[in-house]
Amino acid sequence: MKAIMAVTGLCLIGFLLMHMFGNTKLLLPDNGAEFNEYSHYLRRFLYPIVPPMWFLWAFRVFLLVCIALHMWSAAKLTGRKSRNVGGARYANKKTMESSFAARTMIWSGVILLLGLIMHLLHYTAQVLRPGYAPGVTDLTPYDRVLAGFGVWWVVLAYVIFMVAVCLHIYHGCASAFITLGANVSAGSRKLLKSLSGIIAALLFIGFLVPPVMILSGVIG
Ligand code: HEM
Repeated sequence: MKAIMAVTGLCLIGFLLMHMFGNTKLLLPDNGAEFNEYSHYLRRFLYPIVPPMWFLWAFRVFLLVCIALHMWSAAKLTGRKSRNVGGARYANKKTMESSFAARTMIWSGVILLLGLIMHLLHYTAQVLRPGYAPGVTDLTPYDRVLAGFGVWWVVLAYVIFMVAVCLHIYHGCASAFITLGANVSAGSRKLLKSLSGIIAALLFIGFLVPPVMILSGVIG
C-alpha cells in the first residue's frame, strides 16, 4: 500500500516539475507565442504515429489513475493507522510524526485536490471564467492565463493552493523515497529531507512567479 502511494506520488511530482518548466515559457517577451506553441505541440505529440490528442488523453488518464490510487492508498493507510493507535485519528496524532507538514498531510491533500479541480475547470474546461470576457470562447492558453491571473483573488487562491501543494510535497517526497528503501543511513535521511525542501521551494517559486508577474503587470 505504502509503495503504491510512494510511486504514484513521485509520478505526480514529476508531472508538476514538467508543468512548472513548461510554464516558464510565460516569461518570454513574445506575447505567448512559445507558450501557445508548446500547448499545441503537446496536443499533437507522437503525431502521425497516433492521431492528435491521443497522447494527451492517454497522459490525462495516467494522471487520473495516479491521483485515484494515491488517494485510495492514503485512505487505507490512514484507516489502518487509526486502528493501530486505538481509534485516535492519525492525522491529529502530534506524537506520531514530527513536522507541521507531516501532521497536516490530509488537509494539504484536500486543499490540493480542491485547487486542482478549480484549476482544471478554469484553465482546461473553461467552465469557471473569472477574468474571461463574457461570451468569448476561442481564448488561447496564454489568453486564459493572462486573463485569469489579472484577477487579484484568483492569484490569492493560487498562493493558498501552492502553499498546500508544497507542504504536501515537502513531507511526501522524502517519505516516498524512504518507503522505497532509500533510507539507508542518517545521512541519506538528511539528504532526502533537503532534496524534498529544494523541490518544494522550486515548485513554490516556479509556479507563483507567473501569476505574480501577470497581476503586477510585468507580463502582458
Ligand atoms: C500558477 C501556476 C499554473 C499555471 C499558470 C498553470 C497553467 C495551466 C494551463 C494554461 C493549463 C491548460 C493547458 C492547455 O489547455 O493547453 C493547465 C492544465 C493543467 N494543470 Fe496547470 N497551471 C499551474 C499550476 C498547476 C498546479 C499547481 C497543478 C497541480 C497541482 C496543475 C495541474 C494541471 C493539470 C493536471 C492540467 C491538465 C493538463 C491537461 O490535461 O491538459 N497546474 N495548467
